[in-house]
Amino acid sequence: MSDFMSLIVAFLILGVVLFCWWLPWIVRRNQPSDQPTDKSVGHNFDGIEELDNPVPKWWYYGYLATVVFSLGYLVLYPGLGNYPGLLGWTQVGQYEEERAQADEKYGVIFSAYAQQPVLQLAADEDAMAAGQRLFANNCAQCHGSAGRGFVGFPNLTDDNWQWGGSEQAIKHTLKHGRRGNMPARGINPNLTDPQLEDITHYLLQLNNREQDSDAAEQGQPLYVQACAACHGPQATGNTAMGAPDLTDDIWLYGGSFDAIMVSLLEGRQGHMPGQQKFLSEDQIHLLTAYVLRLSGRHENGE
Ligand code: HEC
Ligand code: HEC
Repeated sequence: MSDFMSLIVAFLILGVVLFCWWLPWIVRRNQPSDQPTDKSVGHNFDGIEELDNPVPKWWYYGYLATVVFSLGYLVLYPGLGNYPGLLGWTQVGQYEEERAQADEKYGVIFSAYAQQPVLQLAADEDAMAAGQRLFANNCAQCHGSAGRGFVGFPNLTDDNWQWGGSEQAIKHTLKHGRRGNMPARGINPNLTDPQLEDITHYLLQLNNREQDSDAAEQGQPLYVQACAACHGPQATGNTAMGAPDLTDDIWLYGGSFDAIMVSLLEGRQGHMPGQQKFLSEDQIHLLTAYVLRLSGRHENGE
């Protein structure tokens, strides 16, 4: 924040602290004596009378102590605008310190795993238990704790890959993330809604789902013209650009007539965020093994 804002914030906070210090005096202004009285404030609940007595001494001094504490805190820690505090504590600093400690403690384990080929790790139960913890902390919020995904978040257990299932492709996905780009109406913005419906019937036919075969016949050439560049002439997809196979009846966004129409009318832009800010190379190696394991692949059999 600007120096001016910082000054205002600091001023307001000190004002609040001062006010808290001052508050007991305003409240007791009209009662010079701190001796108990039998003066009622006029409230009566179930026969219990509220008397206008001063607060107990211990409470009063305890209260003032909290005000003093807050001043001490504001000197040591950040709180007054841009003033960093004498201790130089920051949230980021604390996070990084804890992370450095964790790296030191667990780094050896991960680097030992990083020496082994992924398919061998995928068959190693201890390694997979460690992989599962990493997955739960970093991936499960989007892909589900069992890796089965949700609408828009791919299922990782089906050995069906939008971006490729080789070790290299998965590592690339984890490190750098992936950004799918399906433009609305493919590469032909002039396609009409009825034409998109015809294409949808064609896709349903490719997946042996119920469709109108006349419409599907109309849809086929439209598909080739507006969609084949990315999804391929046979609609089997292209992992280089993350264009899914449209013939396997596995759907990221849903395979009903309506869900497919939404994909065509509005386009789809799925985004998997890159993880290299959060995970080391060694952790990504272990997670790659874990992802392969989820998809059913490991050393002792496919
Ligand atoms: C520029 C490349 C490109 C073109 C052209 C394109 N798509 Fe896509 N399509 C993609 C990508 C990439 C995705 C995945 C989007 C994501 O990851 O969010 C996708 C997703 C889809 C989906 C969702 C699949 C699912 O599993 O839910 C459907 C359906 C689809 N495309 C059909 C079509 C049709 C039909 C056309 C032609 C009208 C077309 N696409 C044109 C790249 C393209
Ligand atoms: C913020 C949500 C989010 C997080 C966190 C996340 N992912 Fe993803 N992931 C996605 C989305 C969305 C896609 C699909 C991208 C697209 O539509 O092209 C995806 C795609 C993938 C793919 C590609 C699947 C394929 O078929 O090619 C893999 C593998 C993957 N994620 C693994 C992971 C792992 C492992 C982690 C944890 C380190 C993780 N993801 C964390 C949202 C997330």
